[in-house]
Amino acid sequence: MDSSETYWADRALLEWQVELGATDAILDAPVNRYHLETLPPAVRTTKPDSKTATAAPVAVKEVDAVNAARTAAATANDFDALSAAMQAFEHCELRRGARSFVFCDGNPAARVMIIGEAPGREEDRAGRPFVGRAGQLLDRMFEAIAMGRKNADAAHSLYITNVLPWRPPSNRTPDAREIAMMLPFLERHIALANPDVVILMGNTPCQALLGRTGITRMRGNWTEVLGNACLPMFHPAYLLRNPIAKRDAWADLLSLKAHLRD
Ligand code: URA
Repeated sequence: MDSSETYWADRALLEWQVELGATDAILDAPVNRYHLETLPPAVRTTKPDSKTATAAPVAVKEVDAVNAARTAAATANDFDALSAAMQAFEHCELRRGARSFVFCDGNPAARVMIIGEAPGREEDRAGRPFVGRAGQLLDRMFEAIAMGRKNADAAHSLYITNVLPWRPPSNRTPDAREIAMMLPFLERHIALANPDVVILMGNTPCQALLGRTGITRMRGNWTEVLGNACLPMFHPAYLLRNPIAKRDAWADLLSLKAHLRD
């Protein structure tokens, strides 16, 4: 086969895989899990006492990822340093499957900071949060109260980030471990931005920052996060699936507008 034939054969193979439902390229080469090398047995440095040694636990040095994140986040004194500390953070496996590190969008001086869940496919491609269909709805929602991420003045602009900066495979919900290890960075991010209002979009940021979920009951009820006023709202992706809930979102936007006027 010459190179153009190889190209068309590879392309046909790829299209076939997409038709079968493949959405992500995880690795460059396939892994044959039947041929993975078995790890060598753990080396003992002391001879076990044959009378007492029943399955002595092997000491495995576990890295405390949450502590490592706390230390890294605490040293970040501005957005660039925080972004660099997160990109250098090795313990979250999601970084290996993601195309982009997605940190923020909008105006860091904005009075309102929006926190979503994690990048989806479009955000992973673009390297910016909320640029897909849900993000477009988010923009339209806030435009309705004269606010937007592109506005220069702090009173009418938005600053946007997510609980996680890397896309989980197939957009699955982030698990508790991932949330816990990235939380120190998110808390530092909020402290650096120091907004008047934090909007939590859906259950994942509520779980991360308020320690509870149940967005249907929580939405619209003002609370506090790290000393900032906080308003949980329905995630725009939920609104796309449940347009009837848009009237609740509209009530929450009006409540935000009134809060900012006070
Ligand atoms: N959903 C989110 O929660 N965040 C994004 O950035 C995109 C979709």
